[in-house]
Amino acid sequence: MTTEPDQPAPSAPTGASLRRGPFIEGERVQLTDPKGRLHTITLVPGKQFHTHRGHLLHDDLIGSPDGSTVTNTAGVEYLALRPLLSDYVMSMPRGAAVVYPKDAGQIVTFADVFPGATVVEAGVGSGALSMSLLRAVGDSGRVLSFERRDDFAQIARGNAREFFGVDHPAWTVTVGDLVETLPDAVEDGSVDRVVLDMLAPWECLDVVADALVPGGVLICYVATATQLSRVAEAARDHGGFTEPEAWESMVRGWHLEGLAVRPQHRMHGHTGFLITTRRLAPGVTPPLRKRRPAKGYVDVSDIESPTAEDFGERPVSDKKVRKLARSLGDQSKL
Ligand SMILES: C[S@@+](CC[C@H](N)C(=O)[O-])C[C@H]1O[C@@H](n2cnc3c(N)ncnc32)[C@H](O)[C@@H]1O
Repeated sequence: MTTEPDQPAPSAPTGASLRRGPFIEGERVQLTDPKGRLHTITLVPGKQFHTHRGHLLHDDLIGSPDGSTVTNTAGVEYLALRPLLSDYVMSMPRGAAVVYPKDAGQIVTFADVFPGATVVEAGVGSGALSMSLLRAVGDSGRVLSFERRDDFAQIARGNAREFFGVDHPAWTVTVGDLVETLPDAVEDGSVDRVVLDMLAPWECLDVVADALVPGGVLICYVATATQLSRVAEAARDHGGFTEPEAWESMVRGWHLEGLAVRPQHRMHGHTGFLITTRRLAPGVTPPLRKRRPAKGYVDVSDIESPTAEDFGERPVSDKKVRKLARSLGDQSKL
């Protein structure tokens, strides 16, 4: 495709200029030492980076291309790279737990966050997820973030400013509870996507339903199975959402060294669960589910001592257990 010569070149999206070109004063650089250890420094003219084995000058890095190496006074060589967003969120200051990059990727993809979208997010915490959402909506979109705690909102704003180089034009952070502040902040039926990362997302479903466009996506990130169950039941009880879907993702890194190509010994075994549902058009009730609840289904919150069957486990007959016991007894005689 050719560009019309008389058309002005589109201005670079916010933050793009900081992703390219030589290292400049004030930016963060990630140094990897020969043992693979990471050190993140902010480049300041005249400053030195010290370890117990020598030091290097920040001035040796300022003006060097991304992906350079630099050698310190003890002859230790470091690889210098500009941190990716995923590196940045793992090393930035944080008040609350952040959404890990693997989950942020899932949220952006499965909530179908598109350029130009209007996205509501709560809570903001340290701003990790906000940055992924801002990148996905771009300068023409809107991310309206809500956070109860002013101190967390300030940390998040500082983190995002450092990453994008400016206050992102698509971002608004409102300090307050989502339930109290969202109705005044947006027109009913005007929000494309809602992302909730908080302890009690089920408390927000009414205001979220009012804010979402028909067909809009709600995605919640929760840490425990009990929260997951509660959001799912609340979405069903609300009646204005599609049948929720839930999943978790596990990422297992691989060790790549010579013939030792295998999974790494350590991994993040659990971060959180994702649950998503879509807003039905006003007045529409969810179609009846084809699959009926399991026989014996009851709402476990209504009973004091739930049994295995209440949790959907298939009953095992005494006859089957006796048969199994006999067969094991027979085997032990062999
Ligand atoms: C785990 S943190 C969010 C982390 C954030 N997603 C990130 O990636 O950095 C949860 C945040 O939700 C906030 N919060 C909880 N309930 C809220 C509500 N109803 N309205 C607004 N913020 C809320 C808490 O103050 C807390 O900062």
